[in-house]
Amino acid sequence: MKKIFIPALVILFLIACDACNSKTDRVNETTEAASTLPTPLAYNVINVYPHDTGSYTEGLEWHNGMLYESGGNYGSSKLAKVSLKDGKDLQRINLAKQYFGEGITVFNNKLYQLTYKENKCFVYDFATFNKLKEFDYDGEGWSLTNNGKYLIMDNGSDKLYFRDPETFKVMSIVSVYDNNGPLANLNELEYVDGFIYANIYTTPRIVKIDPSSGKVIAQADMSDLIAKYIAPYFTPEEINYNAVLNGIAYDSTGKRFFITGKLWPKLFEVKFN
Ligand SMILES: *[C@@H]1O[C@H](CO)[C@@H](O)[C@H](O)[C@H]1NC(C)=O
Ligand SMILES: *[C@@H]1O[C@H](CO)[C@@H](O)[C@H](O)[C@H]1NC(C)=O
Repeated sequence: MKKIFIPALVILFLIACDACNSKTDRVNETTEAASTLPTPLAYNVINVYPHDTGSYTEGLEWHNGMLYESGGNYGSSKLAKVSLKDGKDLQRINLAKQYFGEGITVFNNKLYQLTYKENKCFVYDFATFNKLKEFDYDGEGWSLTNNGKYLIMDNGSDKLYFRDPETFKVMSIVSVYDNNGPLANLNELEYVDGFIYANIYTTPRIVKIDPSSGKVIAQADMSDLIAKYIAPYFTPEEINYNAVLNGIAYDSTGKRFFITGKLWPKLFEVKFN
């Protein structure tokens, strides 16, 4: 693997070529700000559904016509299959109280769930939620998605870690940046048609990232949705630090995005324009 050392920053870049079979390692030196602003993404609220206010949402996923959610906090962390219609858990396991559940993704009939500071990724059978194995990793676990080949994880920095789903080994790292430079606090991730959507933790912002470069190409400001539907249920402090936007799921069949937040009483089907 070639390495180029840039002051205080090394960016390893591996281009996974889907069209060819050989993998090519690449180093991307780009650390500056993007020269263009992200394109604003407008959105429409298509449907509003109930969401469990006891769920400290850390991961949201749509798979095979059903919604899956990972809830955090010590003592109330869970993995659940959730009814879209009434927000109730249809199938659920509670994590032992020393674990804080984080991002989830479904890959190859397995459900992967990160933990916040416990350095563990749990792997479950998708249908039964029986634990098949666990992986250890360094640092925190925030969010998880996949591109059909690699798991894609973040841990609150500006980096996306592409990991082998069989070994959990980091295969490549992509730095995310916008017109202001590196964009940290990446949280809930969702891979959609070649792009990655991410919540920026404690903000109303959802960014659309080109994973080949790390560049934020578009962004949505969900302030209006929060002000209209969510703010009435919380104090301003809760809205800013606790009951924050977190949760992006995508139904690739119905082409529907689902958005929610920690402890929110609502879950939204939205359309980005
Ligand atoms: C993020 O993950 C990388 C790779 O495992 C690790 O080296 C780094 O310390 C982690 N950072 C945080 C903030 O957890
Ligand atoms: C590195 O990032 C820049 C900036 O987005 C991009 O234009 C370029 O294609 C990337 N280089 C490689 C080798 O991926």
